[in-house]
Amino acid sequence: MKRLVINSYAKLNLYLEVLNQRKDGYHNITTLFERIDLADKIILRSRPDKIIKISSNSKQIPNDQSNLAYRAARILQESLHLEKGVEIRIIKKIPVGSGMGGGSSNAASTLLGLNKLWKLNLSRAQLANFAQKLGSDVPFFIYNCPFALGQARGEKVKPVRSLNQIKFWHLLIVPRIFVSTPKIYREWDKAHKEQKAPLTSVKSNVKLLILSLKKKDLSGVEMGLFNGLEEATTRLYPDLVRIKEELRHSGLEAVLMSGSGPAVFAISGSRKEAESVYAKLKNQKFAQLFLTRTR
Ligand code: C5P
Repeated sequence: MKRLVINSYAKLNLYLEVLNQRKDGYHNITTLFERIDLADKIILRSRPDKIIKISSNSKQIPNDQSNLAYRAARILQESLHLEKGVEIRIIKKIPVGSGMGGGSSNAASTLLGLNKLWKLNLSRAQLANFAQKLGSDVPFFIYNCPFALGQARGEKVKPVRSLNQIKFWHLLIVPRIFVSTPKIYREWDKAHKEQKAPLTSVKSNVKLLILSLKKKDLSGVEMGLFNGLEEATTRLYPDLVRIKEELRHSGLEAVLMSGSGPAVFAISGSRKEAESVYAKLKNQKFAQLFLTRTR
């Protein structure tokens, strides 16, 4: 095999509770990931020498050693002492710095793709171990599942098999601004310096949400959706409040920001409903709109 083309999917966080800041500066979180069919394309071409080359159609991502996909190839090469190289081409569709894990997904796709292209025979656990060194959101994309719980930094992943057959439609509104995740966590720290552990049991909240998702009970889902970073991101980008309101006014009630933002999504059980709201809101100047589905 010389060449491989892979879809590199985006994620949404249907639940994201920040528990505390850790000694290493990261935060312990509980999150529920959902994979969606909005995707970049990754094209891998093997090289007989040790060179890793990276290119993309986007000016917003670095085409050098700092790119997470480049680092994914590098970590395999170095750890396994490989004498092989690769050309990585990224065709971007997932908005950059939007809270939908595009860079993390590209890194995971590169790990999964090189496992085949370079015939490494690494297990999922071994790939997940490399993935967590690249970033907190990377392991989720290794697991090939539509829904999963993430704990610790987000890198401890447990697929939620009870939701394997469930599919939702989503309308995404992605404001044309780049949000830096560390900046949002710093803003969260400022507000939570004095706060003790949350009063309600986090796990039971996620479990309730999972139950509502399973039953496709959208009012239950609406009550269960939660993102503890929303307050911090909204403080820096107050326009997000208006965007959420706009989605709600258009008839979609279950609305939340994903990750550290600024992507905001609505959940619908019906394609027709999601399509009609998409048609109504589609011509936005300051944001991109997408109609996507659970993948
Ligand atoms: O793990 P990743 O490199 O994607 O994280 C980017 C940044 O986001 C980290 O450097 C850290 O500032 C912040 N972060 C955090 N706690 C997490 C995940 C990310 O503080 N659980």
